Amino acid sequence: MKIFIDTAKLDEIEQAYSYGILDGVTTNPSLIKKAVDDYKAKRIKIDIRAYIKQILKTARGTPVSLEVIGTTYKEMVEEGKKLFKLFNPVAKNVYIKIPVNPALERESDKSFDGIRAIKELSNLNIPTNCTLIFTPEQALLAAKAGASFVSPFAGRIDDYIRKGNRISFDKTDYFPEHGWKKGKLLEDNGVMSGVNLVRQCIQIIAMHNLKTKVLAASIRNARQARECALAGADIATLPLDVIKDLLTHYKTIEGMNGFVKDTVKEYANLLK
Ligand code: E4P
Repeated sequence: MKIFIDTAKLDEIEQAYSYGILDGVTTNPSLIKKAVDDYKAKRIKIDIRAYIKQILKTARGTPVSLEVIGTTYKEMVEEGKKLFKLFNPVAKNVYIKIPVNPALERESDKSFDGIRAIKELSNLNIPTNCTLIFTPEQALLAAKAGASFVSPFAGRIDDYIRKGNRISFDKTDYFPEHGWKKGKLLEDNGVMSGVNLVRQCIQIIAMHNLKTKVLAASIRNARQARECALAGADIATLPLDVIKDLLTHYKTIEGMNGFVKDTVKEYANLLK
């Protein structure tokens, strides 16, 4: 499974690449806001064009997702083309992130605009990452339209199921795939958890021989990342803290302390 970092903060991106295991970056307008707010808090003016170029260079040719902000077919295609033209020449690694359904209300003619925009950008050989996926069937349609990546939002579906069942939780709490409350199976229309959503997206895409990669998104803890890897996700995009947590175990630290304490001079001298 490839590991992307889910942030627009340059220092976090640089740090994660320095570990030697990073394969890409995902951003969205909320993540860009967090990065810009950091600059504003330090009263530093940000040149967003130069800043994004620096992210693309730091990513060393691995995919970087940049999201459109428009909500109509026309706006998304125009913005996608603009972002690609402006930034892809830097390191040839731009993927345009398009919401699967950009409608802001339930009954809307815009519902299929995301799918249409993906189809159009894919016809122009502009790679896309279809975002805000909450059902396997949304992933199927996005894949049929030619999305390079589909991004099921694991953490957010966990939140939705927990809220709907009045379960109190912290954003980073692990949520099991087959949870029960008072004899009731916890689910959203056949989706049992975020990891289960990722698993169903993987199944539906493999079963129908589509080339699209499943990018597990909205991952909030290391256990979720592990289960996405075991489910066969092609990619998981993780916040920096989750990337760090992948390596953490109390017994590893305890073991290290024991090895350091037990090292004899004879052996240490050999290694000088
Ligand atoms: C990634 O592509 C998504 O934008 C991101 O994973 C969303 O994560 P969140 O639900 O923690 O905001």
